Amino acid sequence: MDYRILGPLEALDGERRLPLGGARQRSVLALLLLHGNEALTRDVIIDQLWGEEPPNTAAKVLQNCVSALRKELPAGTDTLRTVSGAYCLALGPDELDRDRFERLVAEGRAALSAEQHAEAADLFRRALGLWRGSPLSDFTYERFAHEEITRLEELHVAATEDRLEADLALGRHDELAPELETLVTRHPLRERLRWQLMVALYRAGRQAEALDAYRAARRTMLADLGIEPGRALQDLERAILAQDPALDGPAARPAARGGHRGARPGRLAASPLVDRAEELTLLEAGLDDAIAGRGRLFVVVGEAGSGKTRLADEVGSAAKQRGSRILWGRGWDGGGAPAYWPWSQALRDADRTVPTPDSDDAAERFRFFEAVTEAVRQAATEQPLLLVLDDLQAADENSILLLEFVAGELPEMAALVLALGRPETPRLEELSRHSTRTLRLAARA
Ligand SMILES: Nc1ncnc2c1ncn2[C@@H]1O[C@H](COP(=O)(O)OP(=O)(O)OP(=O)(O)O)[C@@H](O)[C@H]1O
Ligand SMILES: [Mg+2]
Repeated sequence: MDYRILGPLEALDGERRLPLGGARQRSVLALLLLHGNEALTRDVIIDQLWGEEPPNTAAKVLQNCVSALRKELPAGTDTLRTVSGAYCLALGPDELDRDRFERLVAEGRAALSAEQHAEAADLFRRALGLWRGSPLSDFTYERFAHEEITRLEELHVAATEDRLEADLALGRHDELAPELETLVTRHPLRERLRWQLMVALYRAGRQAEALDAYRAARRTMLADLGIEPGRALQDLERAILAQDPALDGPAARPAARGGHRGARPGRLAASPLVDRAEELTLLEAGLDDAIAGRGRLFVVVGEAGSGKTRLADEVGSAAKQRGSRILWGRGWDGGGAPAYWPWSQALRDADRTVPTPDSDDAAERFRFFEAVTEAVRQAATEQPLLLVLDDLQAADENSILLLEFVAGELPEMAALVLALGRPETPRLEELSRHSTRTLRLAARA
C-alpha cells in the first residue's frame, strides 16, 4: 500500500486510488495511520474523533467506518485487525509517505555530515518531493491531527533548510537567493534561513544586501521577540563586514548562468553608497591617521535610517582592506542589557574581557576605564583597529563616559573609533567635544 498524508489523505493500491468515503471514515483511517501498528481502543478513537461528549451513536459510527475501510483495503481484515476491543492498522516500513520522508531526510542528514553535498541535496529533494500540500490538509480542524501537523510542518522547514545548506555548499548561491527571500518572508524568525540568505547574497557579490538582510533580521527579532539575533548571525555579520575568506565557499557552478560576471564577493560588487563621498573621504583620512598611530574619534549623528551604520560599513570595508581589525559593539534598547554592553561586545571581538565593576563606585569605575583603555591599546599594538560603537542612543550613560575617557588616550593609539547614534544619544555634547569631528547626517530622501 501507498498511504499519503503529506497533503490531502490518499491511499493507493498500486495504481488504484481507494475510495475512502466520507469525512468520518477518512478521519478514522488517518488516525490509524498516525498510530500505525499500534492497537487503539475504541474509547481512545472515539475520544480523539469526537472529544469529551461523543454522541450515543459514536461507537456504531466507528464500527461502520471500520467495516467500510476493510472492504476497500487489500486483505482488509488482516490489514485492519481487531485486537481485544482495539483496532490496529498494519503498516509496512515504507507504506506511509511520512515515514519515507523521515527516512530520506535522515539519510540526507547523514550525507550532509559526511560532506557528500550532491547526494545530500538529492536525498532532500526526493524527501521534499513527497509533499503535495499542507500535511493532513483535510484534517486541519481535527483535534487528533494538530500535534502531528505542527510537527510535520516543522520537519518540512528543517528539511528545506538542510537542502539549502547542501545547495549552498554546491555553489548554487545565485539561484538560491530569490527562494531564500520568499522563505524568510514566510518564516521571519528562523535564524538559519536568515543566515543562509545572508551567505547566498554575500557569495553572489551582493555584500550590501547581505548586510541589509542582517539588519532586517535584527529589526524583526527585536520587534517580535525583544531579543538580539543569536551569536551565529552576529558572527556572520561581522565576517561579512570583514570579508572573511572563510565565507567565500565554493565558486558558483559554471553552469549556473552563462556569461555571468564573475560573482566576486566584496565591496566593488555591493550596491553603491550614494551621496556620502565627503563623509567617506573624511573618515578614510581618519583611518589613514589611525593606521599611522594617531588615533581618532568621529561621532556620527543622524535620525533612524539616515545611513550611519551603512557609512560605518563602508569604512569597515576600507579598514579591512588596509589590514585593520574591526571591533563592533552596539547599544541595546530592548531592556535588561548589562552595564557597558557595547564595550563588552567590542572587546569580545578583540578577544579580550575586562570584568565590569559590580558597583558604580567612582574609584572602581575609574580602574575599569583604565583597564578597558589598556585592553584597547594592547589590541591596537597587535593590529590597527576600527572600533565602531553603534546605536549609542540605546547605550547606558557610563558607556559614553568610558568612550570620552578612551578618547583622551586615542591620539597615541592605532585606532579609529566611530561613535554612531541618533540625536537623543546621552552626553552627545560632551562626547562631541572629545571627537575629531562630529558628522551630522541629514535624513536621506
Ligand atoms: N548613502 C547611502 N547610499 C545607499 N544606501 C544607503 C545609504 N545610506 C543608507 N542607506 C541604506 O538605507 C538604509 C538605512 O541605513 P542605516 O541602517 O545605515 O541607517 P542608520 O542611520 O544606521 O539607522 P538607525 O539609527 O536605525 O540604526 C539601509 O538599507 C542602508 O543600506
Ligand atoms: Mg544603524
